[in-house]
Amino acid sequence: TKNIWLDCDPGHDDVTAILLALYLPNINLLGISTTHGNAGHHYCAINAARSLVAFGADERILVYPGAPKPLVLHAQHAPSIHGVDGLGGVEGLPAVDDPAVLSRIAKDLQGENIRALDGMRMHIKETWKNGSDSKVSIISTGPMTNVALFVTVYPELLDAVEQFVFMGGGVGLGNMGPASEFNIMCDPHAAQIVLDAHAKVVMVPINVSHTAIVTRAIHKQFLTGESTLTSSNPATPLPPAKTPLRHTLSTLITFFTETYKAVFGFNDGPPLHDALTVAYISCPDLFKATRFRVDVEMNGRHTTGETVVDIFNFHQYDSSWGPRGKNCLVTEAIDVDKFFAMLLECVQKCDTV
Ligand code: BDR
Ligand code: CA
Repeated sequence: TKNIWLDCDPGHDDVTAILLALYLPNINLLGISTTHGNAGHHYCAINAARSLVAFGADERILVYPGAPKPLVLHAQHAPSIHGVDGLGGVEGLPAVDDPAVLSRIAKDLQGENIRALDGMRMHIKETWKNGSDSKVSIISTGPMTNVALFVTVYPELLDAVEQFVFMGGGVGLGNMGPASEFNIMCDPHAAQIVLDAHAKVVMVPINVSHTAIVTRAIHKQFLTGESTLTSSNPATPLPPAKTPLRHTLSTLITFFTETYKAVFGFNDGPPLHDALTVAYISCPDLFKATRFRVDVEMNGRHTTGETVVDIFNFHQYDSSWGPRGKNCLVTEAIDVDKFFAMLLECVQKCDTV
C-alpha cells in the first residue's frame, strides 16, 4: 500500500483525484491540505471537506487548510473554468455549512483550524515512525505553495518522502499563456522550490492530462456504470444517472465540459488533469516517463511560468535529485483506457459503501 498526502485546490478535476485517493485499493490517504488556486483558499478547503463527506470517507481523514496566497505573487483564480466557488454547477454535494462538512476541517484542542503545514508534519512524521517502508508520496494538484513551505521548513522530513508527484506545467504547452500552465503560473517560485528538493519529483504535464478526456461515451459510463461505448452521438440525450453519486459526478463533468469548450474550444470533453497524479502512484506502469532537468521560467518576456524541460540535455547534470541533477521524472503518455477503467471502478466502489 502507498501512503499519500494530497495537496489540492478543488476544483472539478481535483475532486476526481480525491475519489481515486479514497477508493484505489493500494492507496492509503493520510490527509488533505488545501491551497489557493482554482478558487479562493476558503472555498478550496470547504470543497475538499464536502467531497470527503459526499464520498463517505473514513472520519479520520481530515482537511488542513493552507496557504491563502502564493509565496511572492498575488493569488489568481480560475472562475471561467471552475466557477467562482471552485465547484460551479456541481449538484448533490453537502452544503458548505453542513455540520458534517465543518467537522472534516481539522481542529486543535482550542477549536482553531490546524493548518496545512502542521497537518503534513504530524501525519508524515507519524507514518515515518512506523518504519522505513512507511514513506509518504506527496501529491500536488494545485499551486505548490504548501508543498514548497513543507520542503523549506522541514527539510529533515524529506527522508520520509517517497516522492513528490505534481500535476502542472507543460512541455512547450500552456493553458494560461502559450507556454504557462495554471498551477505553475499561480506560484512559479513554489514550483521551483519543489523541483529543487532533494527527493524524487514526478511531473504530470498538460501534454499528458490533455489525453485523458471525458468523452461523451465515458460520461455515459459515469452515469450508468455500463461500459458499452456505442451511441455517443451528441444528438441522443444522455441516460439518467443510476445513483445520486453518479448524478453528482455527471453534473461535475457537464460543467467542466462546457467551460473547456467555451474557454479552450475542447469539443470532445474536458481533461481530468489532477486524477492522473493518484493513478501514477497507484500504478506507475500506466505511464511512459523520462527523467529530465526541469526549471521554471520566472521572468520571461513571453514565457513566465513555463516549465523549461531540457529534453536534449544541453547541460551537464549529476545523478542526484535536486538543484544540480536531472530533477524531474516527466510523464509523457498514459494508458487512457486503463485510467478511466480505474476511475470508474472507484465510482462503483464508492457507490456501494
Ligand atoms: C490544472 O489547473 C486547474 O484548473 C486544474 O484543477 C488542474 O489542477 C490544470 O492546468
Ligand atoms: Ca487542481
